[in-house]
Amino acid sequence: MPTFEKHIFICGNQRPAGHPRGCCDPAGRAELQKLFKQKLAERGLKGKVRANQSGCLDQCEHGPNLVIYPEAVWYGAVTLADVDEIIESHIIGGKPVQRLMLADSCVNTQSCEHKPKQANSATRTPRDSGVR
Ligand code: FES
Ligand SMILES: [Zn+2]
Repeated sequence: MPTFEKHIFICGNQRPAGHPRGCCDPAGRAELQKLFKQKLAERGLKGKVRANQSGCLDQCEHGPNLVIYPEAVWYGAVTLADVDEIIESHIIGGKPVQRLMLADSCVNTQSCEHKPKQANSATRTPRDSGVR
């Protein structure tokens, strides 16, 4: 079987209401992931592009988050209304959607101005890691 050309990892993590870092899918319905899956299938991309629900991607303050590999483009504040544009522009057209991309200063850096001051690994829960 050929390998997938692209992999979309969509955070489906939940945290309790009021948690300082928030979370990407408070209702736990995986609506973004399900919509990506549906729209990819509609475009005949099933088997070429995989949309996986993931655990916490550790960019919680910018959520709902997803990342697309192999190019490692990070998106934040993604809504259901953005799914078509991401698929058309990025997945099919090869042009990332600039307005939704996380800034380099935000991804995996302590310089991110959006993180709570005390945020560190102690704020993570056992459910926060790993890909489902
Ligand atoms: S809860 Fe989604 S990135 Fe952490
Ligand atoms: Zn930030």
